[in-house]
Amino acid sequence: MCPSQPNRGEQSIRNDIERVLFTEEQIARRVETLAGQIAEQYAGRELTILAVLTGSLIFLADLIRKLPLPMRLDLVSVSSYPGQATRSEGPKVTVPPAGTLRGRNVLIVDDILDSGLTLQYLLDMVAEYQPESVSSCVLLRKERPDVENRTEAEFVGFDLPDEFVVGYGLDYDHLYRNLPDICVLKKHLYQDSQ
Ligand code: IMP
Ligand code: MG
Repeated sequence: MCPSQPNRGEQSIRNDIERVLFTEEQIARRVETLAGQIAEQYAGRELTILAVLTGSLIFLADLIRKLPLPMRLDLVSVSSYPGQATRSEGPKVTVPPAGTLRGRNVLIVDDILDSGLTLQYLLDMVAEYQPESVSSCVLLRKERPDVENRTEAEFVGFDLPDEFVVGYGLDYDHLYRNLPDICVLKKHLYQDSQ
């Protein structure tokens, strides 16, 4: 494609965006700081990252390349937002971890903490494998004052208001994961399904 011509695909997904919350550059800086905090916490230990597919994929790729630690990587697939829902309807593991978590220092890595149901579900699941330790890291944490005693993550990238966000791995109906920034989606695109 000629570089002077606009990329029509990118333009059309940008049209669905109300505003950018965190830019690519802001995210890169924050991810580096977060990696530093994790490295400090786990210094001298071997880490097993258990990443939650698919939303954490881009965050995971950036985070682990900033981690100067011996680490293993395992993946778990959890379905909590079937199709066009924007509120969790209860998580289910659709692909369990492949490797061993027993005796390991497990760090769960997810894209966003909303109701906390997914994280609590995963903490319970990991505990059954008898790890040495378990903690969690999320790129985003939504303000949800309506949720009492929400399960919290030890490492958090950014706090954000209770709005539906896409980009940098996060999707709505499987779209927008490839946007490099974290963006608020125009409400009319999803409010009919709530
Ligand atoms: P929770 O179980 O309500 O905490 O939801 C966590 C999961 O819901 C995350 O791992 C995301 O996959 C998804 N999720 C929550 N809020 C958003 C959002 O604003 N955009 C995209 N996905 C979201
Ligand atoms: Mg998720």
